[in-house]
Amino acid sequence: MMPGFPPRSLAVRLFLLLLGGVLAAVSTTTALAIHERERIVQSFRDQATADRVADFLHLLVALPPGERFATVRALPSGLWRIDPGDRPHAEPQPFSPAFTLALEEAVGTGIQIEDAWRVIRQDCEDDGGPCLPKRVIGAWVRFPDGQRVHVEGIRDYSPPYLPQGAQFAINLSLLAGFLAVMAWFAGRLVLEPLLSLSQAAEAFGRDPDHPPMDESGPSEVRQAAHTFNQMRERLRAHIQERTHILAAITHDLKTPLTRMRLRLEQCEDEPLRTRLVEDVEAMRTLVAEGLELARSLDTGQAPQAVDLAALLGSLCEDAQDAGDDTRYLGPETALVAGRPEALRRVFLNLIDNALKYGGVASVGLERAGADWLVRIKDAGSGIPERHLAEVMQPFFRLETSRSRETGGTGLGLSIAANLLAAQSGILTLHNRPEGGLEARVRLPALKGNGKP
Ligand SMILES: Nc1ncnc2c1ncn2[C@@H]1O[C@H](COP(=O)(O)OP(=O)(O)O)[C@@H](O)[C@H]1O
Ligand SMILES: [Mg+2]
Repeated sequence: MMPGFPPRSLAVRLFLLLLGGVLAAVSTTTALAIHERERIVQSFRDQATADRVADFLHLLVALPPGERFATVRALPSGLWRIDPGDRPHAEPQPFSPAFTLALEEAVGTGIQIEDAWRVIRQDCEDDGGPCLPKRVIGAWVRFPDGQRVHVEGIRDYSPPYLPQGAQFAINLSLLAGFLAVMAWFAGRLVLEPLLSLSQAAEAFGRDPDHPPMDESGPSEVRQAAHTFNQMRERLRAHIQERTHILAAITHDLKTPLTRMRLRLEQCEDEPLRTRLVEDVEAMRTLVAEGLELARSLDTGQAPQAVDLAALLGSLCEDAQDAGDDTRYLGPETALVAGRPEALRRVFLNLIDNALKYGGVASVGLERAGADWLVRIKDAGSGIPERHLAEVMQPFFRLETSRSRETGGTGLGLSIAANLLAAQSGILTLHNRPEGGLEARVRLPALKGNGKP
């Protein structure tokens, strides 16, 4: 099979299909038309030829048998030939019953036509001139006086009309151009709904609150859009229900936990109290982050212009003030469209991870095409490649990080990923060749914004 066949693009496939179909139809009808015309022309020509041969024979029959050969030879050059009928012929002739019949009718009674034919044959001039194709008609004839002769009439031959090179090529390219336009329209007809469906699915994946698809156009397209919108509604209801349950539980747990924390103060047993307070604190963190996760799934607030550079710079300063090893390297301003609180939460989580699991957090900001790219690097041991995707899942923590001092909930990365996804951002994790983890965040830059 040819490489790239069938072509990937639906529009190209449609074009080839249309072109192939029309070319097949055009060549078949052209061949049929040429054949039919040749048949009709041939029957008229047979009639006319038969009349001419009949006139010639009527002329000969009036002559005495002895003079017939000499008279024909005296006629103007090479149109007619007559030979004694007893002489055998050089080549066998393809007799034509239809032509024989036409000739018999034209000649009438008296002269007997034994057989007649018509052929196209190369005929060379007697004086060594060029050999040209001629239309030759011939017949075995018996005159009423019993003389049998072989007559031949010779005429110039013009080949039947066939589509000719240049003109044919022009017509064909006009046809192909016309088809390309048709295929383009047909392609658009089919592709546009497909594209908008895929765009709608993509937009819905990023933001469940994205408006539903427009349900207009041809019935099949309307049907597909309607089905898509129904699916979208069901999924939205599902997500909302889950989010609300999560939010309700975590929210309602806050009060009893606070109460427990207060009541524990009255516990007499000192070591037991310390352990229980630690546990209650861990539960409070879990509840707080659970609520955060629920909120991160609920995309409400409209995005606004956020200065990423200022945000990252201030986060790093805060961490430095708290005695952590962080630094920010990047431009002075970098505008993106986002929700300031959500973005703060994202980078707080990522910087916190870098400090917790990698000791340092080096935050870089640079321009990458239409996006701003934030890199948060640490000097820890990174994450085994096979777990890189899993750590983004809620509650997933690596075994080594289950110790008390790094104790977290395993929700930080999922919260960050959810918050980013809702504002066209992407979070990816990479192990650095020199050791440590690099968390990368891509956010579309706001247009008209300063250079890095
Ligand atoms: N910078 C990092 N270096 C090494 N491991 C990391 C890093 N960031 C995250 N991880 C791993 O991914 C897991 C999930 O992170 P996260 O969702 O923030 O939860 P948490 O920090 O509460 O444990 C962490 O428990 C840790 O094992
Ligand atoms: Mg974390």
